[in-house]
Amino acid sequence: MSSDKAGKQTRIARADAAAIEDAAAVLRAGGLAAFPTETVYGLGTRADDPRAVASLYAAKGRPSFNPLIAHVRNLDAAKRLGNFSKAALVIAEKFWPGPLTLVVKVSGNESVCELARAGLDTIAIRVPSHEIAQALLTRVDFPIVAPSANRSGHVSPTTAQHVAEDLSGKIDLILDGGASKGGIESTIVDFSGDVPRLLRSGGIARVAIEKITGPLLHADKSEISAPGMMASHYAPNAKIRLDAKEVRENEALLAFGASRPEGTDRAREILNLSERGDLTEAASNLYAYLRALDASGVEAIAVASIPREGLGEAILDRLQRAAAPK
Ligand code: TXA
Ligand code: MG
Repeated sequence: MSSDKAGKQTRIARADAAAIEDAAAVLRAGGLAAFPTETVYGLGTRADDPRAVASLYAAKGRPSFNPLIAHVRNLDAAKRLGNFSKAALVIAEKFWPGPLTLVVKVSGNESVCELARAGLDTIAIRVPSHEIAQALLTRVDFPIVAPSANRSGHVSPTTAQHVAEDLSGKIDLILDGGASKGGIESTIVDFSGDVPRLLRSGGIARVAIEKITGPLLHADKSEISAPGMMASHYAPNAKIRLDAKEVRENEALLAFGASRPEGTDRAREILNLSERGDLTEAASNLYAYLRALDASGVEAIAVASIPREGLGEAILDRLQRAAAPK
């Protein structure tokens, strides 16, 4: 248990049946409960309660124009919240439950309040596959809005410990369900217009979706339609140097695969996203390793080359944001 003078006692509980019920009770009362999903940990609150949603924005320090993802149990529940085109339905049926978020036109249903949608006429919906997220969703009769459970702008959390580091004293409960396997947020595709657009690369590779939809438009970087795309969104304190061919003084190395950049010996710390060069394994380690290297107090983190294919696209996207000037 921990708290700060501002506030709340934050409980951390191993996610057994009693703790999941406890989290459901916290949510029913309009409180804030973090829970694991297959991508990253989410900070949940009830979607239909603007006061609860406002307190969630405050706990994260999140700009309130940044809309949230509504998490629901299944496609039927999703269809009550938004209007799915035929194409959106095909994709939902193929990839849900799983690390995919679909943006569709909002229906008349008011179970996701306007504040959670930041006033947009579209809504982002996801059906997570994680057992604990599913158990929680079946115990409540409202959608759960859940951004990643980190301070706004910080690296997303993949363990209960990461959540505690960022949000202790600000939220009611953290359900500890071990490390998130996916490690990188959901892919977001916008089906609200005529042509589907990729708003955020993520846990499902773009090509897997494009096999069905054909080429996805890329969202215009100047738009704020998915502020998760803001340049310096996933920022550690250390500078990030991408595609590093050598390790410099006072740098840590974030390696990938078997290759060793020149000067690897002088790295203050070394972590390898995946010794065997597996991009899925690399995605699941990305945020934890960025945090760990950052915590070592180095000036910069040199990141080895990572192939831009499959999940490599999402990994490089997050690293580029982390590298962007703050
Ligand atoms: O994997 C995930 O998606 C995790 C887990 C917890 O489910 N959640 C997550 O939420 O990454 P968050 O809030 O960190 O990122 C949600 C992104 C933001 O970039 C937001 O701008 C975008 O979704 N978004 C939400 N509603 C939108 C809408 N109507 N149109 C476009 N983008 C939207
Ligand atoms: Mg986030």
